[in-house]
Amino acid sequence: RLDEMEFENITIDQHGPIAVLTVNRPKALNALNGTTLSELAMAADLIANDPEVGALIVTGAGDKAFVAGADISELAGLEGPFAGRDMSLLGQDAMTQLSNLPIPVIAAIGGYALGGGLELALCCDIRIASPRARMGLPEVTLGLLPGFAGTQRLPRLIGAGRALDLMLTARQIGAEEALSMGLVNYVADDPLQKAREVAEQIVKNGPLAISLVKEAVRRGLATDLEAGMEIEADLFGLAFATSDFKEGTKAFLEKRPAEFKGE
Ligand code: CAA
Repeated sequence: RLDEMEFENITIDQHGPIAVLTVNRPKALNALNGTTLSELAMAADLIANDPEVGALIVTGAGDKAFVAGADISELAGLEGPFAGRDMSLLGQDAMTQLSNLPIPVIAAIGGYALGGGLELALCCDIRIASPRARMGLPEVTLGLLPGFAGTQRLPRLIGAGRALDLMLTARQIGAEEALSMGLVNYVADDPLQKAREVAEQIVKNGPLAISLVKEAVRRGLATDLEAGMEIEADLFGLAFATSDFKEGTKAFLEKRPAEFKGE
């Protein structure tokens, strides 16, 4: 079981089909050092291969922070001509693995989600923030740019104009402003509880259909409209051939909830 895995800087709890991954370095406001990034990638791999898990919630330990960014002390000590690039690739890889999971991934943001922390939230499918959350990409204040795919994912999510404002000013925004720009989907006093509710709602649906929706959006965003529609038609064809689709339509006609088997 996933919750029996021993990690240094993350924990995974499993409640039925819903797993909760917690970044657990509260003394450093859950900052992402190399070990944590490797553990995130390892966890994503384990979760991707665990048929028991139908949804993943990502959160941070403690009241104060989701994740306050890449670990600045570690960054300051890295040496060598490729150290920066390698750290960026390590972070990007962890984010990509989480983002490519075939199950829904929901970020529950209780406090600071800054720099690499916001980038972690950006690789999730749905973001839920507490009214106390503070979000931003402050890398330029350190003479850096976002390096865990933030320069790429943020403009795709909220548009280049808003993304550039946040990245160039380095300003922090609260939950309501994030909601108004589409950076978060929900504001909730207890974001973890709200994330569980959203996850419960999603896991009632056909799991293959859910993974195909994610695939269609991900592959479609990487290409033009026409090619994206071809991808959609191919995946629609795949969904059409599943027993889940037969069960879904049968259940509708019989006026009962569907029982999907993921096949
Ligand atoms: N890396 C390492 N340690 C961090 C950290 C980080 N990103 N953020 C906070 N910490 C540590 C602090 O050093 C402090 O440790 P000590 O108690 O040992 O001094 C502890 O966490 C608590 O933090 P503060 O005392 O600073 O708490 P605060 O309430 O005064 O401030 C904060 C909170 C505004 C979030 C502030 O900690 C802060 O600005 N953190 C850094 C945010 C940041 O710049 N993130 C971007 C990192 S660069 C990046 O992410 C690059 C990339 O894209 C790949």
